Amino acid sequence: MGVRRCRGEHMRGWVIPPPREPVKGEEEFRRERKEKVASLTRKGYLRSERIREALLKVPREDFIPRLYRDYAYEEVPLPLPGEEATISCPHSYPLFYEPLGLDRGHRFLEVGLGSGYGTALAREIVGEKGLVLAMEIDPVTLAFAENNLRRTGYHDVVLVQGDGGLGHREGAPYDRICMTAACDQIPPPLLDQLEAGGRLIAPIEEGGVQNLVVLEKGAKGLERKVICQVLYISLRGRYGKGG
Ligand SMILES: C[S@@+](CC[C@H](N)C(=O)[O-])C[C@H]1O[C@@H](n2cnc3c(N)ncnc32)[C@H](O)[C@@H]1O
Repeated sequence: MGVRRCRGEHMRGWVIPPPREPVKGEEEFRRERKEKVASLTRKGYLRSERIREALLKVPREDFIPRLYRDYAYEEVPLPLPGEEATISCPHSYPLFYEPLGLDRGHRFLEVGLGSGYGTALAREIVGEKGLVLAMEIDPVTLAFAENNLRRTGYHDVVLVQGDGGLGHREGAPYDRICMTAACDQIPPPLLDQLEAGGRLIAPIEEGGVQNLVVLEKGAKGLERKVICQVLYISLRGRYGKGG
């Protein structure tokens, strides 16, 4: 697959809208959500019905700090409480979850919980028989996400504070792993914890750019596909810069 440049996420290079008191109501957000899903479908980001239903159901505005709430459906990452965290732009979720093939019944590990929005979407997609386990290194960000998830009724996701580069052996093996922070190489513990036939998606820094890479653990080893170029915040911890 060729490399296509797509909008990624970084505070650098993005014009972050100014914080302001929210004025939009539930009805307006519902309309914006429907329009966003229609636009993601038209642009080819969104194809599967299960991911579409999840995007229509989860109220993204409830995962955003109050002073940025009105920008919930704009294609811009927004700052979150914590050291470096952001909620990714709306198109990032189908951009990651479609090639990952996230589906009903999967055991899913997310590295980089952020706002909890991607976690809530994953919960909707994998359904009751699946598992969603999300890791966050920053305790302030984790507390923010936990509050968002509990308030919106997502009590059945497992949240773990710690270095997601090490994965979480207690929940392994995982059918699907999604990293939302960029690294130079896929942390080996995550490959160990990936089920045979499973897939992992991550932004990888290589040759001065970040490529969004999908790996599949096949019988003959790892198959690799580059989806497009992105710009994500860097992974921290053991497999991050200076780790
Ligand atoms: C782009 S944000 C996540 C966006 C998130 N998916 C959402 O829906 O809001 C990346 C997150 O990865 C976290 N992070 C960075 N390094 C990490 C690590 N080693 N383990 C776990 N989380 C990490 C950051 O603190 C940040 O919250």
